[in-house]
Amino acid sequence: MSLALITGGSAGLGRALAHALADQGWTVVVDGRDPDRLTAATDRPGILPVPGDVTDAGHRTRLVAAVRLHGPLDLLVHNASTLGPVGLPTWLPELADVTVDDLQHVWRTNLGAPLVLTTQLLPDLVAGNGILIGISSDAAVEHYPGWGLYGASKAGLDHLVQTFAAENPEITAYAVDPGDMRTQLHADAFPGEDISDRPEPDSVVPHLLALVATRPPSGRYRAAAIPVGSEV
Ligand SMILES: NC(=O)c1ccc[n+]([C@@H]2O[C@H](COP(=O)([O-])OP(=O)(O)OC[C@H]3O[C@@H](n4cnc5c(N)ncnc54)[C@H](OP(=O)(O)O)[C@@H]3O)[C@@H](O)[C@H]2O)c1
Repeated sequence: MSLALITGGSAGLGRALAHALADQGWTVVVDGRDPDRLTAATDRPGILPVPGDVTDAGHRTRLVAAVRLHGPLDLLVHNASTLGPVGLPTWLPELADVTVDDLQHVWRTNLGAPLVLTTQLLPDLVAGNGILIGISSDAAVEHYPGWGLYGASKAGLDHLVQTFAAENPEITAYAVDPGDMRTQLHADAFPGEDISDRPEPDSVVPHLLALVATRPPSGRYRAAAIPVGSEV
């Protein structure tokens, strides 16, 4: 039996991936801050909800304990993420308007939590010859006005997961840009905009499953460029 931990499993891409892995017989530990939404999203066999915030040390300890109940870790996905400050009058603020509080919030969620959680679970991941995935963004490599703080955190996450693989040859690590998806995070970034033309997060999942099944070399991948079907 295979074991995964996906942060942010109560909505969007995290929920879609957790459901797909559970359907394939995986045991999947997931979290999310809103306990009711997490319970509703994970009410199916194979998915183990652990409510909480990835920036909270006590919650991360509970995640580690949940993983250790089930054995070596085959897959760790850092998916939970924040855009940072969104709100009028500037919506996504330009870098010159970013505050220290904004910086700390985005850094702790998108970078600090993945760093500490990976470190805590490294023995479990190494024991399982596991796969480490950081869900990235095109904002990690492009320079969109207003997206600098989020983009820098995703560039940092890309660097972090791949450095873990360079330092631990037993594991393989991927930074994956999922592309635009019709989710709450995307709606928050484009208030008032019709985002119904963006693909559903379920459309990204087959590419992530193919990545895990075929295990190409560690690196940065665009989900849409990962071939689906070659894994069978
Ligand atoms: N949607 C896009 O167009 C797009 C494009 C490029 C990259 N991405 C990336 O794709 C990933 C998934 O995004 P999404 O669009 O699927 O987002 P989403 O639909 O908003 O879902 C985010 C999930 O993460 C959880 N979460 C957020 N902050 C958390 C925290 N501090 N601790 C624990 N759980 C937390 C949320 O639950 P709670 O709110 O209840 O905590 C929810 O389950 C993110 O890394 C995002 O940056 C998205």
